[in-house]
Amino acid sequence: MYKIVDKKVLNDDIDFMRIEAPLVARNAKPGHFIILRVDDEGERIPLTIADNDEKHVDIIYQKMGYSTKMLGEKQIGDHVADFVGPLGKAAHIRDKQHVVGVAGGVGAAPLLPQLKAYKKAGSKVTLILGARNKDFLILRDEYEQFVDEVIYTTDDGSFGEKGLVTDPLERKLKDDETIDHVIAIGPVIMMKFCTQTAVKHGRSIDVSLNPIMIDGTGMCGNCRVNIAGKTFFACIDGPDFEGHEVDFDGLMKRQSYYKDEEHQCYIRLKDGR
Ligand code: NAD
Ligand code: FES
Repeated sequence: MYKIVDKKVLNDDIDFMRIEAPLVARNAKPGHFIILRVDDEGERIPLTIADNDEKHVDIIYQKMGYSTKMLGEKQIGDHVADFVGPLGKAAHIRDKQHVVGVAGGVGAAPLLPQLKAYKKAGSKVTLILGARNKDFLILRDEYEQFVDEVIYTTDDGSFGEKGLVTDPLERKLKDDETIDHVIAIGPVIMMKFCTQTAVKHGRSIDVSLNPIMIDGTGMCGNCRVNIAGKTFFACIDGPDFEGHEVDFDGLMKRQSYYKDEEHQCYIRLKDGR
């Protein structure tokens, strides 16, 4: 059992939790993820590690389905049954002069440790953080402590620039020749268009893929993704890949496989069944 030592509700959909898990914490690097189960019969939930110290692991999750809603009902002092990790490959922190990190919505959580690592390695870092509205722009204080420049966007214009993250990305890549790398994490459609923008301007880009995962150890095949025409498993070969090699359309199709079942579970939870 793993103890929840801190919890914050970041907005209507998103919570932060700090879990006591020393073995996972001591080995965690940017890009790694964990799989947790709320109880012994629970679904396995994969989540990228947002931060860690020697003893604790921070996770940020969106309460969009049955299992994440159940997790959201847990409070400080409660426990989760399983907390396995670190899983996946650590992100490749490249030798770059100026990196632009682009985060969409809850993608701000997995991007945070990667941008911190680039800053620590000596790169200049610019953040473009976009969300539906002001309430969904998470981790602003955490980013503002270390990034060199930040641009916020909201779909409704309630904070920062009105529009999508690809608008300032296009502008920055056109105007600033010092930028030599982009990392984009968020909805698949966002990563697809960030990749198109980066490729158009001749920059390299890494993305973090979040296909459906079950075991997280390369056994079930659910997380397969098409990278440069070959099949890879995001859980053991990723989750980070070079954007220009990813088949984003195939990934979007696979992600919607269990939409109906997920919706049914969600309705049951809402109705208390
Ligand atoms: P969202 O749908 O509210 O979008 C967030 C932002 O992404 C938008 O404000 C916009 O700026 C940008 N965006 C959306 N569609 C775009 C498009 N067509 N072109 C350019 N930019 C676009 O995001 P959300 O509701 O917070 O959902 C976050 C998503 O991120 C979820 O689907 C979740 O599964 C995914 N996610 C991915 C990872 C990962 O590792 N890749 C980690 C966590 C979450
Ligand atoms: Fe099963 Fe990756 S989650 S192979």
